[in-house]
Amino acid sequence: MSPLPTSSPGVRSSEFRFRCISCGDLRETASQDFRCPQCGDLLEISYPSWKQSAPSPQNLKSTWKDRRLSSKAVDQSGVWRFRDLLPALGDENDVVTLHEGNTPLYELPNCARISGVPRLFAKHQGMNPTGSFKDTGMTVAATFARRAGFRWVACASTGNTSASMAAYAARGGMRSLVLVPEGKISWSKLSQALDYGAVTCQLRTDFDGCLKLLQELVRRAPVYQLNSINPFRLEGQKTLAIELLEQLDWEVPDHIIVPGGNLGNSSAIGKALLELHELGFITRLPKLSVIQAEGANALVRTLREAGGKRLINVAAETRATAIRIGNPASWKKAVHVLESTGGACEQVTEVEMAQAKAEIGAEGIGCEPASAVTLAGLKRLVKQGFVKSDESVVLVLTGNLLKDPDFTIDFHRGELFPNKESLAELRRPPVVLDATLDAVIRTLESAETSPL
Ligand code: F0G
Repeated sequence: MSPLPTSSPGVRSSEFRFRCISCGDLRETASQDFRCPQCGDLLEISYPSWKQSAPSPQNLKSTWKDRRLSSKAVDQSGVWRFRDLLPALGDENDVVTLHEGNTPLYELPNCARISGVPRLFAKHQGMNPTGSFKDTGMTVAATFARRAGFRWVACASTGNTSASMAAYAARGGMRSLVLVPEGKISWSKLSQALDYGAVTCQLRTDFDGCLKLLQELVRRAPVYQLNSINPFRLEGQKTLAIELLEQLDWEVPDHIIVPGGNLGNSSAIGKALLELHELGFITRLPKLSVIQAEGANALVRTLREAGGKRLINVAAETRATAIRIGNPASWKKAVHVLESTGGACEQVTEVEMAQAKAEIGAEGIGCEPASAVTLAGLKRLVKQGFVKSDESVVLVLTGNLLKDPDFTIDFHRGELFPNKESLAELRRPPVVLDATLDAVIRTLESAETSPL
């Protein structure tokens, strides 16, 4: 099988270009590995036409509002509603969509009090159709995969990308191939990929090994790569920031905090903020900070030990399997957005993450472990004085609570960090009782006296 170029037929558009993040090489087409043919670095999508005729913020803000009343699929998508800042579609009916985006912004008063900030919001990307932020990027990349005529799409994944890709491939009439590290992803995520019809390979390696193999595969076979190396994914993921600012009536928060794994999402959110700033939608930038698990802290080490100049790989280990990544592909893009927005990069321990997850859960919101590093990181950033006590903060919750039920159950049953006194108050273990009214009433009475 010989590879197809990603841009034929139909993807060629005068309105966007593939731009190399290192040497600036600009082209209309990209090869299947989405690498610069000159220097081999990653590509991003750029919009040279904005230089001549920049989109007008006032017009677009009202167009985007009006589209909310439309019943067209392209308008009901919380991604394509913002299509004016995305790669141009030939035909609006072509989109592969599950009505992604449109995710809620919740206020977290208790977590605000615990962490010491006046207002704390959670942008809950776990409320997307397959339960994670991946859907916002997948709708764009799957649409362009289908337009380019691919029959097969493929990804390496810690679980969420594969669930999302399999769903969008199925909706778009394509086949999907999933490469996941054997025994290292949650069954919930794996079950999604299976149900949506993916060919699922559990490889005896880690995520980084799966990604390496995928990159070799796309050079040999006509499969379309849907990892976040694919710059169309990041364009879709940009809409998180656009939708968030719209929800805040374009009042810019002081901080946005996001978990970091392969570093595609932080790069996408940062790209959106920089574009919105340049186009005049906002007059100042929020600081975008990235939080990693201590056991998967490649970006933290890259910044601290190499000044962000070269990647320091790590052998990743964390119970937050979504971000169990040691060799993040988009590290250069993430360093750029951290530097451009003045954000911080911090790491948190497994115990801090588990505690933060239970605190978010106790507000009736819930999220998967990887998302909870944001609250744990915020607490550290407040202690360090990086986040001031009068500043507004938005946490990006990337995945749904139901994505990793084992973690939650182990936590509440006391099987996770059993000796950690600080977690005892947060545990809500299920109790097994005789089916008598007395037994239930006794349980109710004893719960009444225990702290909330
Ligand atoms: N949070 C969740 C729930 C994730 O699934 C991921 C990544 C991240 C955070 C980190 O985002 O990689 O853009 O920095 N999951 C990928 C996957 C790698 O395969 O599902 P990132």
